[in-house]
Amino acid sequence: MSSVSIIGAGNMAKAIGSLALKGGNTVEIIARNGDKAEALARALGNGATAGTWGASPAGDIVILAVLFAGAVPVVREYGEALAGKIVVDITNPFNADASGLAVPHDTSVAQLVADAAPTSTHVVKAFNTLFSHLVAAGAPVDVFMAGDDAQAKADLSAFITSLGLRPRDAGDLTMAHWLEGAGLLEMGLARGGLGFNLSLGVNIAGKE
Ligand SMILES: NC(=O)c1ccc[n+]([C@@H]2O[C@H](COP(=O)([O-])OP(=O)(O)OC[C@H]3O[C@@H](n4cnc5c(N)ncnc54)[C@H](OP(=O)(O)O)[C@@H]3O)[C@@H](O)[C@H]2O)c1
Repeated sequence: MSSVSIIGAGNMAKAIGSLALKGGNTVEIIARNGDKAEALARALGNGATAGTWGASPAGDIVILAVLFAGAVPVVREYGEALAGKIVVDITNPFNADASGLAVPHDTSVAQLVADAAPTSTHVVKAFNTLFSHLVAAGAPVDVFMAGDDAQAKADLSAFITSLGLRPRDAGDLTMAHWLEGAGLLEMGLARGGLGFNLSLGVNIAGKE
């Protein structure tokens, strides 16, 4: 069982929070608008709580479920309150028409978040290649992860498995740039005719 704080109270917070509770984890919802955090915690039920914006998150795993432009400012604002935590960046830094990335090509939002976080914070990119409605549906999809700390990825893998999803370690934090690109690839495939009920995954020869 993991203790998870989710910063943000939108579609992804709801989808991940709901699966997390079903998986037996504890969930705290934190939002800059406290009423929205309360409302989502109430809607999720099953012991979900609403945290106070700016207070130290209760969870060992903190999921950043805000729009990409807010990720670094939120991490800066939380500062030392994130020391020792696993911070999961799920953002997609798409430009206005989702035809390119809105961060420079030699970095990623996850890397910028890591640069802004305390040195003892372990930042992992994950979940950005999953559309929220598929997470909400609980389909057993692949969750790509990129991060530098093996123990943080092992802890996050255990959490992802508890959601009924498959953790897929893509490498160190430099791979976050390519996962953000994979978000764009997914948009291209969806718009190219496959529709939005798709997720990217790996097939391993000889295995299911
Ligand atoms: N939706 C998807 O299918 C999907 C899939 C993969 C990844 N993602 C990524 O997941 C993240 C969340 O997506 P979503 O669909 O859940 O978005 P959403 O429904 O629009 O919710 C966004 C949440 O972030 C909060 N927020 C935005 N900017 C903020 C800031 N500067 N400081 C603090 N809070 C801020 C919003 O608060 P307010 O209500 O106060 O504005 C809201 O609670 C995004 O980065 C997105 O790229 C989404």
